[in-house]
Amino acid sequence: MIQAPKGTFDVLPDDAVRRERLEREAARVLGAAGYRRIETPAFEATELFTRGVGEATDIVQKEMYTFDDGGGRSLTLRPEGTAPVCRAYIEHGMHKLPQPVKLWYLSSFFRAEAPQRGRYRQFWQVGAEAIGSASPETDAELIVLLAELLEALGVRGVKLTISSLGSPETRAEYRDELRGYLRDHEQQLSPEVRGRIDLNPLRAFDASDRGTREVMRDAPKLLDRLAPEDAEHFAQVRALLDDAGIHYELDPALVRGLDYYTRTLFEFSSDALGAQSGVGGGGRYDRLMELLDGPRTPGCGWAAGVERILLSAGELPVQADVVDLFVSLASDDVGRTAFSLALQARRAGLNAQLELAGRSLRGQLRHADRIGARYVAIVGEEGTSLKNMETGEQLELSPNEVIPTILRGSRLS
Ligand code: HAM
Repeated sequence: MIQAPKGTFDVLPDDAVRRERLEREAARVLGAAGYRRIETPAFEATELFTRGVGEATDIVQKEMYTFDDGGGRSLTLRPEGTAPVCRAYIEHGMHKLPQPVKLWYLSSFFRAEAPQRGRYRQFWQVGAEAIGSASPETDAELIVLLAELLEALGVRGVKLTISSLGSPETRAEYRDELRGYLRDHEQQLSPEVRGRIDLNPLRAFDASDRGTREVMRDAPKLLDRLAPEDAEHFAQVRALLDDAGIHYELDPALVRGLDYYTRTLFEFSSDALGAQSGVGGGGRYDRLMELLDGPRTPGCGWAAGVERILLSAGELPVQADVVDLFVSLASDDVGRTAFSLALQARRAGLNAQLELAGRSLRGQLRHADRIGARYVAIVGEEGTSLKNMETGEQLELSPNEVIPTILRGSRLS
């Protein structure tokens, strides 16, 4: 039996209803703040991600679906949306538009990760990017928008963590300082952390062994090393969040798996999720545009995982679709009359379904009841009887009287 590939899933009709609601809420919350929808291609030149997301990241090292397009060009299924949106900004000369350009997307992304609950190989993200503004209001507004969206969607147990990374230069100096500190305390570190001092000293903050944890308690923190203008920017973002009544935790060791971040960094998690607790996150990326050969342009944004939002929002009841009319056939010879009645009903604006399965008349009525039809028209050779399923009332009509009768009934009810 052929099955959906590992790490992928089908969106079945009940799931689709929940996703449509998420899309409507995203359009409402983001649209109200002036964000406009953008869609970029499902695959891009591989270089966009190696340069944009960063050669050393897990995404680029291990998780990309990369293939040759047959003409010697390397393409990659998009693992994220920020680099593609920046590519589109440059390609379409959006720096000529009033700034910032505020965009949102709801698209699927691809990462070759080990699948588990909340982690898939094809997944959906709703994302927002504001390109062309360095103001702290932009960062704070984006964070507030994601908080509001998660709240509107009923995501439970939400926690917001923020930090600031400063500039790449500050970070490089800080990494050197941290390496020095780790070497001074090498004896107390786990062999694993010791082995990674040169490659990635920041990982030491994630270690769980006692020795390393004790060393890390007094380790220098990047937040204390920020350049004055970066520290000021971060202080303003925090003040704006305080004003907005948004609760957050400061985590000086917050790390995210993408290399393009500068300054503000944030993540929303939910304790309604298991190990994959990150619902959404983002930050500022003031150098990304240059990495992609565009004009130096600041940017900030976030993305949230659609499946993780739905998992952490719990089971919302799915509302059944309204069916105004079910057209049933009293005999095989009335097929054309019945077909045309259903068609006209839909043209008149009613939700109308036609019997398509060759059921007995009793079976048809049972089916109409199951789908919650308000009326059933039983089309016979002599005429049509219209049954009101709520009252049980039944009228004998000519076929052209059926629709006006339902429409009158609808208006009365
Ligand atoms: P990210 O943290 O890699 O950021 O992904 C954002 C969200 O996508 C995660 O918080 C998670 O909910 C969801 N997600 C990621 N990987 C998977 C997966 N394998 N399965 C299911 N859900 C997943 C970004 O992608 C950045 N582009 C966000 C951003 C926008 N930064 C600035 N602007």
